[in-house]
Amino acid sequence: MTSHAMIVLNWKMNVPKERITPLVRLIVKNSLKISRGAHIIICPSHELITVTADALKRSHADAVLGAQNCAQTLWGAHTGEISPQSLKRLGCSYVIIGHSERRVSGLDSDESIREKIELLLGSDDLPAPILCIGERQRVKSDAAAIKALTAQITTALKGVAQKKLPVDRLIIAYEPLWAIGTGEPVSLDVWRARHEAISRVIQKLFSGAPGTRHIVPILYGGSVSEKNVRNFLETPSGGVLIGGAGQQVDSLERLLKVL
Ligand code: PGA
Repeated sequence: MTSHAMIVLNWKMNVPKERITPLVRLIVKNSLKISRGAHIIICPSHELITVTADALKRSHADAVLGAQNCAQTLWGAHTGEISPQSLKRLGCSYVIIGHSERRVSGLDSDESIREKIELLLGSDDLPAPILCIGERQRVKSDAAAIKALTAQITTALKGVAQKKLPVDRLIIAYEPLWAIGTGEPVSLDVWRARHEAISRVIQKLFSGAPGTRHIVPILYGGSVSEKNVRNFLETPSGGVLIGGAGQQVDSLERLLKVL
């Protein structure tokens, strides 16, 4: 496993309150194994952030908190939204931005994602963004996929590049929509090629900007399970973003066992 690979657990709306303690206990039980090589980030739904924070604190679990989304401003008339500043106060060090489930349902647009990334990278006092990108459909050629990814990255990071904001807290998650929740992850060859292409785009966009000496971690997401997690961690990867396999006690146990 790459040293201190990030393992992001995206609980979506699937983990009820009463399952949080059993899931956290598993992380504690496997903490020796985890601390050797991984950094666990748990992203509960907003209303369960405090409950999860308490469970982590009580059990001294080796994991930190993230959120699944935030507003694109710190304050204002945004009914139903949550400010990244509030997330930080609740204990979230990270926040997922532009998950494809939000992109396809119209809850996030290129513009809102750009604004969120710019806001989050503009201040060290806000959670670090985990920017999700990925093709919506299986494309026939690598060139078409890379073109789509380049467009997503360039649009999301336009403001950051223009303002020369530091990118040392940026994390990217490559998650093709067709691989999410389908049991069909991308092949390792495709992952290697996408990882390389994404790194190249980032290098090009930020050469000379503050923080570029730091390598932006690129995670893989989409049907990661105990069957393939090691393969994805052993390729030149920054880590993995896991949905389904991190939401049930038995599947998380199987996954942590093979780390
Ligand atoms: P999955 O979800 O692991 O269930 O495919 C990944 C994600 O949506 O982040």
